Amino acid sequence: MSEKTISWEFAPAPEDSRLAMIAKRYEHFIGGRWTPPSEGKYFQTRNPATARKLSEVAAGSAADIAKAVEAARLAFRGPWGNMPARERGKFLFRIARLMQERSRELAVTETLDGGKPIRESRDIDIPLAANHFFYYAGWADKLDYAFPNRRPRPLGVAGQIIPWNFPLLMAAWKIAPALACGNTVVLKPAETTPLTALKLAEILAEAGLPAGVVNIVTGAGATGAALVEHDDVDKVAFTGSTAVGKVIQKTLAGTGKKCTLELGGKAANIVLEDACIDQAVEGIVNGIYLNQGHVCCAGSRLFVQEPVYEEVLWKLKRRLDTLVVGDPLDKNTDIGAINSREQLTSIRHYLKVGLEEGAAIYQPDCQLPSRGYFCPPTLFTEVAQSFTIAREEIFGPVLAVQTFRTLSEVIEKANNTPYGLSAGVWCDKGARLFQVTDALDAGVVWGNSYNNFDPTSPFGGCKESGFGREGGLHGLAAYLDI
Ligand code: NAI
Ligand code: MG
Repeated sequence: MSEKTISWEFAPAPEDSRLAMIAKRYEHFIGGRWTPPSEGKYFQTRNPATARKLSEVAAGSAADIAKAVEAARLAFRGPWGNMPARERGKFLFRIARLMQERSRELAVTETLDGGKPIRESRDIDIPLAANHFFYYAGWADKLDYAFPNRRPRPLGVAGQIIPWNFPLLMAAWKIAPALACGNTVVLKPAETTPLTALKLAEILAEAGLPAGVVNIVTGAGATGAALVEHDDVDKVAFTGSTAVGKVIQKTLAGTGKKCTLELGGKAANIVLEDACIDQAVEGIVNGIYLNQGHVCCAGSRLFVQEPVYEEVLWKLKRRLDTLVVGDPLDKNTDIGAINSREQLTSIRHYLKVGLEEGAAIYQPDCQLPSRGYFCPPTLFTEVAQSFTIAREEIFGPVLAVQTFRTLSEVIEKANNTPYGLSAGVWCDKGARLFQVTDALDAGVVWGNSYNNFDPTSPFGGCKESGFGREGGLHGLAAYLDI
């Protein structure tokens, strides 16, 4: 096979950044009003593709959190708690439609604030976020059918803390089921990507959602901690790092508050010898490189059965050579900007450790933009199970490749991790596919596909990847007393 790859240069096709219509400054959204921070402090959110400031947002203190929780409690006791379920559902439908109407603005904002390629925010994040509202809107007046003979009741005020990798989608995952079940919400977006949640606040107001049903308080870790620690929060839902998840679990122990945690992962993507290799290579690329590997369920460990190892590796490298890294706003871009300078520093640290431990590195020859935070797609071979890059979550476009001979060997290797969020298996024969998927300790296992999401399907992990499910019927249970 020849080493030469034929590739074509695409003419630039950038989306217009002005479509984002980002304000110079945003306040908290509390009790239906834009509320200045009690301590008068603001912080910047930047565009990681240029490192330039986009806007400034309010820095939330414990006093701001207290105000937001109080507003949420009032709404729960009042208009929202007393509203017939079918009326609640109508609000969710309205929110979903307004998100669709503003989808282009939301997609451009998401890409500017977080650095992900516009193709992803346009085709995945925003439509899926709207779909979550549509899906849960339908459940609002059917909870008795979802849980027959259980008389499901809302929990009360939900405190929700979300990360920066899917900002609007995570907000929708958390808010839509909470509202469908009759709860009220205080949401704390991630500090590097607060803007789409604040635009969602505008949408909630436009939809006429009663004041206080959803409150959005921006800030960093301390703001999130104040929300977790507040006495009048009935349920905490968190997505983010395993380290913070453990802190939250300690804080909540013995308080009687309910909790769901969706934490890190180190997913195995397994290619068996009879797999369709071209399809598997696309799935591997989709699993770890698109969205810069900023995905908790990213397929960051690749296991290839020995007979097809050379072929998979050759095709994967050629495919890496064609990936377009650069301006996230360009519709041709496959790999956008790393979300923050801190995250890039952390990824670079892992690249160094991988080399020090003796792995072989492959990176295509790509010209990275001179400004902003970028990392080329990276592949490590000659990796041992004990290497740091095969054990720790890197959260970047970095793949660690290993080989295996037998199914029992790969099952043991794949499960040999403290995480258990997701996995993928590529195989032509259904019976073998299910043999492997059944044996994997992971909340989600994809067969001959990767990173597929649907509002009707539950998502969540086991082991140190957390507990509780989001999406589907299971996602309702997390917001109900049944
Ligand atoms: P993080 O876990 O610190 O941040 C996630 C959210 O939690 C943010 O909104 C943050 O403000 C909030 N937070 C931070 N400390 C808190 C505390 N003590 N109490 C309550 N809320 C708190 O994640 P970070 O630092 O942004 O990323 C570090 C690593 O975490 C990444 O490299 C990646 O490995 C992992 N991560 C996993 C995610 C997932 O989807 N499972 C998402 C983001 C990061
Ligand atoms: Mg930002």
